[in-house]
Amino acid sequence: MNADLHTHILPDMDDGATSIEDALTLLRRELAGGIDTVALTSHFCTDWDSVDEYVTRRDRSFRQLQQAVQEAGLPIKLIPAAEVMYSSALSDTDLTPLCYAGTRTLLIELLPNAYPAGFERFLFQMGTKGYTVLIAHIDRYPYLLESPRLLCQWVKQGCWCHVNASALLYHRRTLAFTAAAVRHGLVHLIASDTHSIEKRPPLLQEAYALLQKHCGDKRVAELQKNPERLLSSQKLLAPPPSEIKKLFGIYR
Ligand SMILES: [Fe+2]
Repeated sequence: MNADLHTHILPDMDDGATSIEDALTLLRRELAGGIDTVALTSHFCTDWDSVDEYVTRRDRSFRQLQQAVQEAGLPIKLIPAAEVMYSSALSDTDLTPLCYAGTRTLLIELLPNAYPAGFERFLFQMGTKGYTVLIAHIDRYPYLLESPRLLCQWVKQGCWCHVNASALLYHRRTLAFTAAAVRHGLVHLIASDTHSIEKRPPLLQEAYALLQKHCGDKRVAELQKNPERLLSSQKLLAPPPSEIKKLFGIYR
């Protein structure tokens, strides 16, 4: 299996695909890049939706897309999931329907510009309820790039982390940060977070190839195996977490 576990391909759910045609275009691009399994992780936020309302909308859109995929004869498997905006209110909610289908893993997004108050407590609470948190695109939080020590604390608490392929391909600073995080066991998988052909197109193979030059074959092979392991509720492969050192703006 080659899976992309973070996409906004499900039509009319968020700021991603707006039609079945857009969604099919993105799925064809995923197939062309060697991806055969795609998780549909439309945004969920407690301020906008209840879990029930979201799941009703998502499942309706999922059925329509699934039918279109079958009619188009695309050999790609679709997995319902969600990208959940972190809020301390989440810990009182049954989040099972938002996990990657058939697992207890939740994709959690943090606000980009502010340290998420109470996140350590949230990770602890999720752990006691049997959830594993996968933090979305750690390359997109300036406070982590400034203070990467925080990331090691979170991974030691049991969460997993992913980076966007675009962080490797388009931005030198996030490439340096991401490569260091991969070497230190702080990244567990790469995903596209694709919204459209223009906004973060699915380019996972290109990202893996670039990362090989910075982190070696073994780590990249682990990253490539981890999406399948996550979907089958296995522990993800990574070295024990250790702190990234940042000296004079260089990550080591
Ligand atoms: Fe996303």
